[in-house]
Amino acid sequence: MPQWDAAQYLKFAGERTRPAIDLLQRIELSAPSRIIDLGCGPGNSTEPLRARWPEATIVGLDSSPDMIAAARNSYPQGTWEVGDAASWKADRPFDLVFANAMLHWLPDHARICRHWMEQVAPGGALAVQQPAHYDGAMRREILEVSQHPAWSDRMHAARAAITCEAPPFYYDVLRPLASRVSLWETAYYHILAGPEGVLEWFRGTGLRPFLDALASHEERARFEAMLLEKYSAAYPRRASGEVLFPFRRLFFVAYR
Ligand SMILES: C[S@@+](CC[C@H](N)C(=O)[O-])C[C@H]1O[C@@H](n2cnc3c(N)ncnc32)[C@H](O)[C@@H]1O
Repeated sequence: MPQWDAAQYLKFAGERTRPAIDLLQRIELSAPSRIIDLGCGPGNSTEPLRARWPEATIVGLDSSPDMIAAARNSYPQGTWEVGDAASWKADRPFDLVFANAMLHWLPDHARICRHWMEQVAPGGALAVQQPAHYDGAMRREILEVSQHPAWSDRMHAARAAITCEAPPFYYDVLRPLASRVSLWETAYYHILAGPEGVLEWFRGTGLRPFLDALASHEERARFEAMLLEKYSAAYPRRASGEVLFPFRRLFFVAYR
């Protein structure tokens, strides 16, 4: 498991939180009374949940003590727990099980989705958003650099750290357990100062397992320089000097 760094993650807090807001706005529940935010990170996805449903009891759960400390710091009155979302079991069912930008860090999505649906109360919902990494330059470039002979044999775990299935997979798993399933994708075009921005973005998330597998600062600098060269070609500067960074995300909501 990569180490999570709340400060690095929050460098793009606005961009990272927008999909959480888009997901929660599409959830057709009027007044869920018990909500859990799995992989809540520094609390940036929990806050919009609280804004939409201020009367609800909301729990934020994350496996990273650093993230939970940041969440508690930003909202001390909240209920924050360090725990593993893959094995987490509700003492009582939740009306809304919400997981924004975290499912892809877990393997075996069929088992996880079924397990999370079991924690949803009748009439409630499971709502998930994750990057649609099953096709896209940003992840392909990282995987290509990871194949370099200097470190390829140390990258097996990093390459397997993220799991993303295509939309029909989630539909087939969830439909037998749900009264209704809704799925969609959105492409966000983030505007970054330059291709270095794309690298900086991934330092807070998908690049971490790869950098953690390298032995020294020099190796990490070399890995990042190779990746930056590829990102400079994949994300050319516009006339403004900025780059457009397209990021597709998959959303689904399954109602019990
Ligand atoms: C990309 S961040 C998402 C944070 C926040 N939900 C958001 O919408 O921006 C992924 C979070 O998932 C957490 N995470 C990864 N694996 C986990 C696990 N097995 N159980 C709980 N949290 C996990 C990480 O610590 C990290 O805070």
